[in-house]
Amino acid sequence: MIAVTGATGNVGRALVERLVAAGEPVRALTRDPERADLPEGAEVVRFRPDDPGTVFDGVTGLFLYVQAGGGDIPGLLAAAREAGVRHVVLLSSGIVGGGDESHPIHVMHATAERQVRDSGLTWTFLRPHAFATNALQWAPQLRAGDTVRGVFADALTAPIHEDDIAAVAERALLDDGHEGAVHRLTGPEATTNTDQIAAIGRATGREPAFVEVSPEQAGPELFPHVPPEFVQALLKGFAASVGVAPEITGTVEKITGTPARTFGQWAEDHAADFRKG
Ligand SMILES: NC(=O)c1ccc[n+]([C@@H]2O[C@H](COP(=O)([O-])OP(=O)(O)OC[C@H]3O[C@@H](n4cnc5c(N)ncnc54)[C@H](OP(=O)(O)O)[C@@H]3O)[C@@H](O)[C@H]2O)c1
Repeated sequence: MIAVTGATGNVGRALVERLVAAGEPVRALTRDPERADLPEGAEVVRFRPDDPGTVFDGVTGLFLYVQAGGGDIPGLLAAAREAGVRHVVLLSSGIVGGGDESHPIHVMHATAERQVRDSGLTWTFLRPHAFATNALQWAPQLRAGDTVRGVFADALTAPIHEDDIAAVAERALLDDGHEGAVHRLTGPEATTNTDQIAAIGRATGREPAFVEVSPEQAGPELFPHVPPEFVQALLKGFAASVGVAPEITGTVEKITGTPARTFGQWAEDHAADFRKG
């Protein structure tokens, strides 16, 4: 049995869908099972990190989303280990092992990695760079009109499809050989924000315009998916990425046998999220 924390999130949901499709027993952990809308076939269970109760009984592999730890990842991992969990796959970040060590996202993920290393469980770290789902920050504007206000039109990233991260997590949870491995994950090509808006336009049959605003004019409303305390650090990261080629790895294909999907493919998969009305 695999337990998936953050099971209603971008990566967690894709992983639960994959495990169900593969016929693997999966326990999907969420704060609110009534709203979870997870696939039939998954055992959907309410999760309180400070009181895990019996959620890890019968579980051998755990997919860990850092924020689901509720601030006490060591306690959560101790409970998992005691219940018989052997291996944990941590959704970390590409900012670890190359990025600014004082960045709050670096601190959060580096701390979680250390806590997992210290847990006595075997582990695999997934260190993805930018998620393609970050483009959902533009969805409210594109559902309302054909103009997107945003920062750093030329910032370069190699966005990764959430289901490609889930595919790697699935292999790391089900196959031998990923113990102690660190997988750096990216999409297959560098794109600018302007490229991404154009790709969403092609996927939705429109020609939206990107209107660049200065970082000083950018409020948290432009980043509906980002906790407000991370917005300044995020803007600093974007500024540093303008004109700098992002890291691109072939790890998704190496591990899953299937090439990582392009941002254009992601936009087609998510066209409905950007349609008006
Ligand atoms: N976005 C990027 O470019 C990027 C890049 C590298 C790494 N990351 C890391 O990837 C993770 C985000 O993954 P994701 O996009 O798949 O997740 P997500 O969609 O933001 O959320 C995952 C799920 O976790 C639960 N959750 C959210 N906040 C929580 C909290 N404070 N306490 C407990 N549970 C909470 C929610 O489920 P329920 O409400 O059902 O419990 C939510 O659906 C973060 O750790 C982020 O730092 C992101």
